[in-house]
Amino acid sequence: MASTAADGISKLSINGDEWASSAPNLRSNLSLLSPQQVELAKILLEAGQSHLFQQWPQPGVDDNEKRAFFDQVAKLNSSYPGGLASYIKTARELLADSKAGKNPYDGFTPSVPSGENLTYGDESFVKFEEAGIREARKAAFVLVAGGLGERLGYNGIKVALPHETTTGTCFLQHYIESVLALQEASCKLSQGESPVDIPFIIMTSDDTHSRTAELLESNAYFGMKPTQVKLLKQEKVACLEDNDAHLAVDPHNKYRIQTKPHGHGDVHSLLYSSGLLKVWHAAGLRWVLFFQDTNGLLFKAIPASLGVSATKQYNVNSLAVPRKAKEAIGGITKLTHKDGRTMVINVEYNQLDPLLRASGHSDGDVNCETGYSPFPGNINQLIIEIGPYIEELQKTGGAIKEFVNPKYKDATKTAFKSSTRLECMMQDYPKTLPPSANVGFTVMDVWLAYAPVKNNPEDASKVPEGNPYHSATSGEMAIYKAHSLILRKVGVKVDDPIHQVFNGQEVEVWPRVVWKPKWAITFSDVKSKVSGSNSISQRSTMALKGRNIILEDLSLDGALVVDAVDNAKVKAGGSIDNKGWVIETVDYKDSSVGEEVRIRGFRFNKVEQLEKIYDEAGEFCLNP
Ligand code: UTP
Repeated sequence: MASTAADGISKLSINGDEWASSAPNLRSNLSLLSPQQVELAKILLEAGQSHLFQQWPQPGVDDNEKRAFFDQVAKLNSSYPGGLASYIKTARELLADSKAGKNPYDGFTPSVPSGENLTYGDESFVKFEEAGIREARKAAFVLVAGGLGERLGYNGIKVALPHETTTGTCFLQHYIESVLALQEASCKLSQGESPVDIPFIIMTSDDTHSRTAELLESNAYFGMKPTQVKLLKQEKVACLEDNDAHLAVDPHNKYRIQTKPHGHGDVHSLLYSSGLLKVWHAAGLRWVLFFQDTNGLLFKAIPASLGVSATKQYNVNSLAVPRKAKEAIGGITKLTHKDGRTMVINVEYNQLDPLLRASGHSDGDVNCETGYSPFPGNINQLIIEIGPYIEELQKTGGAIKEFVNPKYKDATKTAFKSSTRLECMMQDYPKTLPPSANVGFTVMDVWLAYAPVKNNPEDASKVPEGNPYHSATSGEMAIYKAHSLILRKVGVKVDDPIHQVFNGQEVEVWPRVVWKPKWAITFSDVKSKVSGSNSISQRSTMALKGRNIILEDLSLDGALVVDAVDNAKVKAGGSIDNKGWVIETVDYKDSSVGEEVRIRGFRFNKVEQLEKIYDEAGEFCLNP
């Protein structure tokens, strides 16, 4: 029978090894343990975990495994703010709340927070972008990439997936090239000040760490200085087997505690404990930008959002998109408690409707006169101001308000279907902030800012109508749409898309237009590189890989790929007409093609293209 916390506590005050009398099988093994391990054993017993030792044999049997058990306990203890005792205490409280069906938002009234709604390419957008570029040299970028990616089911790490298959650039390469482009643009704007290397941090986990490191090393860090990049590995947390927060023994090894991921909220405690924040602050950095593994559009939204943070002096800025009422995306909400507490926070969509109804909004989650919910949709990309961030983390040690989500066997809520654990989310950081904190949001169109790759083809094809697929198919098509729409905004005539079905998902197929971040990172960059009268047909493909390529009076009906070294200036104009790259459908079950292709449901048959590579300095005309 499992012991209780009280069993342990009553024995602990006794000297000698009496404290271990609630766990006789541990007691007989104490001579194997170092003094530090004995301390850990005391922590476990004090927290009512004597069941962990129930199956332990006498000394002489599996001694190395017993020591390895304590190595694991040491790791679990040191990687959690407050250690295992604190983890178990919080778990008991949260499990009791969950059993009682307590509403975490009890006593809170929701209202719409204040924020900035941006329209791509208008005067204020351009101003915010310029302000953002100025600030970029004072920013650090943090990619959270420790997730399992169970929903996508890809065998590799998600950041190694192509962000689009026209150039084959993977997500990690795209992110690094985007940061480098921002760095260069920012340093250019602040001439006279010394150049900077923007720090780029990747949070990994045991599931992703070695493959992320390999991807970087085998690609020379995609052009970034290795010293600029740092990997911080998050640890998993102990699983809980019941409402008393008894830790779950690994079903495959009685000398291990079962563990599961703790969630992306770990990024705050890792940044804090690594000491990086203090180093950055001392070096004059002002912002930390947090982003996720597979949003190929994010960097189109970064300059303006950072400009909003700087202009409005937001301590926390959540990037958001317009949200239709009841859409399955969390809403950024201001919550005011009866006792005066307030916070601006993401409220999950299934909690927003009941919360509104409970506080006098009898219609619940509905659209307002704009046709959208007044609560913007959270896309989980955050910009946090370093100074107030450090102050806050000094108080909390980086601990984020956690939650627990046990799957109960039945309505009595006494047993779980499988072990559970505490989880935390990075967007819950503002929950502990004082009401004086300046927490806002920046809303941008979905086409510009958000196209994650989370779902496998089968699940994506079954999403309820009107909801986004968030698949490799939709993620890639969104990139072409964004580039096409941006070109339209600067006056290029881009043909309308056609609709096609891939892997059971109907998507808009725009011309396959893509450019490297160094070609353009802002709207003004694009504008400065396009002149005259340009047109691109729907069946076209265009990849711009050089920095100084100018589109001038180009009429494209086919495929065009231009690559040029930095000091080669290329004018791409005239009429280009060829058979182009034809899209072929691929079934996700077709095992004769690679997984990266299968999950998107199409590939390019490169029938004919104009491909020009300029590897020397000079001025060139593509179509003389
Ligand atoms: P997701 O919600 O996409 O979760 O994470 P996931 O674990 O990657 O995928 P599923 O839910 O198993 O299908 C959002 C971001 O947070 C990171 C992910 O890598 C992704 O960038 N993440 C998630 C972490 O860094 N650590 C975690 O423990 C969980």
